Amino acid sequence: MSGTSSLSAETLVAQALGELDPLTGALAPTITVSTNYEQKADGSYHQDRVYTRADNPTSEQTERVIAMLEGAGCDCMLFASGMAAATAVFQALLPGDHVVVAKVLYWGVRKWLAEFGITWGIDVEFVDTTDLRAVESAMRPGSTRLVWLETPANPTWEITDLRAVCKIAHAAGAKVAVDNTVATPVLTRPIEFGVDLVVHSATKYLNGHSDVLAGAVVTARNDPLWQRIRSWRREAGAVLGPFEAWLLQRGMRTLFLRVRRASESALAIARHFEKHPSIKAVLYPGLPSHPGHEIAARQMSGGFGGMLSIRLAGGAQHAAAVLRGVKLFKRATSLGGVESLIEHRRSMEGPSSSAPDDMLRLSIGIESVGDLVADLESAVKIAPP
Ligand SMILES: Cc1ncc(COP(=O)(O)O)c(C=O)c1O
Repeated sequence: MSGTSSLSAETLVAQALGELDPLTGALAPTITVSTNYEQKADGSYHQDRVYTRADNPTSEQTERVIAMLEGAGCDCMLFASGMAAATAVFQALLPGDHVVVAKVLYWGVRKWLAEFGITWGIDVEFVDTTDLRAVESAMRPGSTRLVWLETPANPTWEITDLRAVCKIAHAAGAKVAVDNTVATPVLTRPIEFGVDLVVHSATKYLNGHSDVLAGAVVTARNDPLWQRIRSWRREAGAVLGPFEAWLLQRGMRTLFLRVRRASESALAIARHFEKHPSIKAVLYPGLPSHPGHEIAARQMSGGFGGMLSIRLAGGAQHAAAVLRGVKLFKRATSLGGVESLIEHRRSMEGPSSSAPDDMLRLSIGIESVGDLVADLESAVKIAPP
């Protein structure tokens, strides 16, 4: 698309950057399935592409869209899953490197770090990143290489002040990576706050239809760490297939509509149930009662996201009854799809989970908010406390 610099991200993503197929003029991008590319008689390649583990035009097009969404992101790499993206960042570090990791974060990352961070030789320290003094005292200048954040953080939606943590980390010579899966670039563009790397489970909101497993890493600059991550992906091979990359660019065309709708509905649901007699607490950064609300209001624009958790007044049994009682919400893990989901996070995460037993995690979709409230209303009444 020519003259794109003045256009908003919302416009650019709706048209997947408006790139046409140069051969046919097709609006929808072509899927390049070839694993390899012809070498010419002089030894060169048509577009410098050799083998699809390193180079695929369909993936590259989707990567350009995600890099654009993250604003100042200079480059993006797709991975086979969100976990492949997250672990690529850690695996690009060296044995002995110290890493400060948010205490509250997606349990899969925490589990991987506990099981494999040690064998990889990285020194992982879990810290409450909502407490800036704790972050500051965890830093070891010269050996802390990375601070890993997630905001809002699974499954209780703690908010970390990105600008403040970046200031502390950078002063100690460390980089900052943020899992931006839940906020999405519609609501937060972490690079604008000084963050160095942004990670996504593109399986969630970016794709948005619960039918693609994918991950992405976006960098603010092309530096040696980025080159190591690229080299890791190429040599280890955790790449996304071209069909999935194509589906992902299609899903992202409606990203703004879906995220805004989910955010509006989540806020309405949070407000409706905040003072409800069957509910002990609603955990949602959009509520002024949330301890991170003020920071969220500063670093999230246009909404507080589609994820919230509710704690039931009647405890774990009440939560189990609500889970059985819903009809419209789907009982399933994951998040960020067009359909609303409900799950008991503690059972899903297992014995190491820090999620309260009386808590249910909700991923709000794009259905009528009235229908969603009515479904929850009748389910929470099933087992009065
Ligand atoms: C916040 C967050 N980050 C990363 C992941 C991992 O992504 P994937 O399931 O695509 O590997 C998830 C998955 O639930 C997630 O919720």
